[in-house]
Amino acid sequence: MSPPYFRPRSSLAFAGSLALLVLFLFFASTHLSAARGRLGGPIHSSDYDELLQHVWNRTLGFQKIYVINLPTRTDHRDSMSLAAHFSDLQIEYVNGVTEVIQKALPPGGVEAKLDEGQLGNWRSHMNILRTIVEQNISSALILEDDADWDIRIKSQMQDFARAARLLVQPFPGTTEQFLDPTHSEPTEGQQVQNFEVGKDHTSKPRTSPYGDIDRWDLLCDVKTPLGRAVIPNDETVPEPQHLNMQFGNDELKKEYPAHTRVVSRARENVCTLGYAISLPGARRVLYELGVNKLTGPTDLALRSVCDGSHDRKSRTCLTVQPQLFQHHRPVGAMSTFSDISDHGEDYNHQAFTRNVRWSTRVNLPKLVDGETNYVDLFKDGEERIDFGFG
Ligand SMILES: *[C@@H]1O[C@H](CO)[C@@H](O)[C@H](O)[C@H]1NC(C)=O
Ligand SMILES: *[C@@H]1O[C@H](CO)[C@@H](O)[C@H](O)[C@H]1NC(C)=O
Repeated sequence: MSPPYFRPRSSLAFAGSLALLVLFLFFASTHLSAARGRLGGPIHSSDYDELLQHVWNRTLGFQKIYVINLPTRTDHRDSMSLAAHFSDLQIEYVNGVTEVIQKALPPGGVEAKLDEGQLGNWRSHMNILRTIVEQNISSALILEDDADWDIRIKSQMQDFARAARLLVQPFPGTTEQFLDPTHSEPTEGQQVQNFEVGKDHTSKPRTSPYGDIDRWDLLCDVKTPLGRAVIPNDETVPEPQHLNMQFGNDELKKEYPAHTRVVSRARENVCTLGYAISLPGARRVLYELGVNKLTGPTDLALRSVCDGSHDRKSRTCLTVQPQLFQHHRPVGAMSTFSDISDHGEDYNHQAFTRNVRWSTRVNLPKLVDGETNYVDLFKDGEERIDFGFG
């Protein structure tokens, strides 16, 4: 029932004997030639390694995928479970928090004037970060329960991993020399530099497909700084007329050809809907937002950790544009969209997910019937559909 791009490579685990190793190399090369036609730059053999294949596993190459769900939002959970099932993802639900007492807030929490929904959201994220620390989880992807993604998420994440490596891994044979000039703080007068997945190379990571665990804190979805890892010819990216950059800027649309995805360090990011975090990242964020001070709603407070504002140290956060995870907006009253913010009283007549061409949730009716003629709301050459809000 899985669409053809899913090629879980469980045979990897047995690649101990030579015969199996050869078999594995064969699978890898057929897979890679399939990938070549679809996405990104070509994967050269020098770019390829076993760890990159872990992105195709049931947790997308992270140790865990957590989904925050308020137990009362059974609608979100039903739809999330189906979407994860059809994408061959193994998720773990974490109950959203509805009650937070003032005494439990770190300094700043009260002044930040967060309402009940925002406080519950903060606590839900902190609970996951605490679990990661308690259980020594090396990396995790954290999603809110209305997150949606493209049916081709695994190949997208593989390209994202290749791009992330260009930004966080040092040059081969060095430990602290990087391709990206903005790796440390950007300095005055630096120019934009684009690196291309499949053309540029850095050293291979050993502890995570996305770059060594101690080299990144957060992988999330917005402003594009100077060092950019470019994924060209990505047909899962809608043409510019369809793109909705939300909090991002318009540079992506203006400066790159259609069907380009760009990975960069996060500046002014807003990203609690979907982000991946390393264990060192979870320790830092739990300290900063759970213990040290709460300076705003979770997304803005996370931003301050990435940016190093509010007297925090800046951390290594990477973002991708257009984002890979987006809120799904189902048919129904808009007031049901969120338990955190107010979406008004209008009615949404068409299910959609911004910037995601083969939305898993929009395509649930197809997926339950095993159909593969997927709905694409952002077809090439077509006019933008005005969803009006969202
Ligand atoms: C997926 O790969 C990651 C990275 O190697 C690993 O930590 C995780 O346990 C794997 N997940 C599954 C379900 O095998
Ligand atoms: C946590 O995991 C790391 C790396 O996998 C390991 O070296 C370390 O011993 C673990 N720590 C604990 C307390 O289990």
